[in-house]
Amino acid sequence: MAMNAARSLDTVSSVVDLRSRVQAWRADGLRIALVPTMGALHEGHLSLIRRAKTFADKVVVSIFVNPTQFGPTEDFAKYPRQLDEDRFRVAMAGAALVFAPTVEDMYPPGFCTTITVEGPSHGLCGAVRPGHFQGVATVVTKLLLQCLPDVAIFGEKDYQQLQVIRRMVRDLDIPVEIDGAPIVREVDGLAMSSRNAYLSDKERSVANLMYKALHRATLALHDGTPVAQALDTARAEITAAGFGKIDYLDLRDADGLAPLEAFDRPARLFCAAFLGKTRLIDNIPVEPRE
Ligand code: PAF
Repeated sequence: MAMNAARSLDTVSSVVDLRSRVQAWRADGLRIALVPTMGALHEGHLSLIRRAKTFADKVVVSIFVNPTQFGPTEDFAKYPRQLDEDRFRVAMAGAALVFAPTVEDMYPPGFCTTITVEGPSHGLCGAVRPGHFQGVATVVTKLLLQCLPDVAIFGEKDYQQLQVIRRMVRDLDIPVEIDGAPIVREVDGLAMSSRNAYLSDKERSVANLMYKALHRATLALHDGTPVAQALDTARAEITAAGFGKIDYLDLRDADGLAPLEAFDRPARLFCAAFLGKTRLIDNIPVEPRE
């Protein structure tokens, strides 16, 4: 039965076919949700699909490894691609359609338009991955306009990306509601990510210590520890755990992502660091006590 569900799951690669499916559902008065992904789907993505089903009658999952959001030395070529397995998971999670365009479908010869979002793109990943959020903003704008869903779901695991997309949708009056879904973690606390597949057994056994250090830092902040001290301790713990270069470990305003020197408003603690060759990111909300 599971195999049948996967076999019968509709998969389209052209915008024309996507629009004709979506228009037919609209004509029936149905609500549509889009879950944009780059594939290599794990439980975190499936939670986005299940969440989308609570908002809409039909869920479209896009699977597209977007070349324009990878830097020249990043992992675009080796990013895991497993469309058959992904289709099976999407079917099991109850989505109605997979949209899997090719690079040529998305970026035909002569493509020369990009979307730049300032504000929340600055700092954090924006500082160390030049061009990344421009690539994300451009492809997400295309996906939203191609599908025109009522709602699109993005994970808080990529919290800066979520804030960039929220701001872009607001600024450009794109008529789609953006929903942010909580991070899904492994039992030991490691945030689920397609890139966890790159970790060796040894690396995997310490990867959750980034989350543990961030969590301890949030407790310290709640106890009144000065921000700089709480962050220094977390950096030292992450380094002692075996992580290499820390791209950033920073407390930011939860909405606009401005740097915070004092913990006086809803905030988010962000970290990106390398474990071997794998770059892991995580973030945790920190709310000041009443
Ligand atoms: O979060 C991701 O998987 C990607 O950045 C997204 C939003 C699908 C755009 O390529």
